[in-house]
Amino acid sequence: MVTVVSHPLIQHKLSLMRDTGTGVKEFRELAAEISMLLAYEAMRDLELAPQTLTTPLQTGQFPMLSGKKLALVAILRAGLIMTDAIVALVPAAKVGHLGMYRDPQTLKPVAYYNKLPADIAERRVFLTDPMLATGGSASAAIDSLKEAGAQSIKLMCILSAPEGIAVIERDHPDVEIVTAAIDSHLNDHGYIVPGLGDAGDRIYGTK
Ligand code: URA
Repeated sequence: MVTVVSHPLIQHKLSLMRDTGTGVKEFRELAAEISMLLAYEAMRDLELAPQTLTTPLQTGQFPMLSGKKLALVAILRAGLIMTDAIVALVPAAKVGHLGMYRDPQTLKPVAYYNKLPADIAERRVFLTDPMLATGGSASAAIDSLKEAGAQSIKLMCILSAPEGIAVIERDHPDVEIVTAAIDSHLNDHGYIVPGLGDAGDRIYGTK
């Protein structure tokens, strides 16, 4: 299942991210802001339970988050900008990291780093990867999460390609994708078109 969060604020900020005139500082800020807005939507179904609290005027029952605790997991390196932003909204969430690179011979994703919360099986997991391109890294990351016991996973992406969505839907039909937009296609180099370029390079100012 794919949820495209087509809110005007998100669409405006995403268009600014696409623009080559947008520099590193603004690009980072936009990525963080969109990530928080995506999280607002991705976390819409978090459970609430009434808690007894006392306001300055009276004691009453008020909704507070309950149910499973949360884990944010970044696919390195570009996913970091998303988890760093989202953790401000859910400061009690644990944060995991998965490092992946693409083997130049096989073009398959290879995991080089894996540090996940030990109790990930008991947590709702929000996996972050700004660009869902071929879907290879995201699918392998979801494999790693499931091997570690994760049972409830949402994949959060700023921009997605139809090819990547198809891979996740084929490999992991239980995982909902929450994205700001679905672009046209991948080019021969695996870049999303029209896209925004290499998200990691634009976040970190590398090239
Ligand atoms: N990763 C990126 O950063 N950009 C793309 O267009 C595809 C993959």
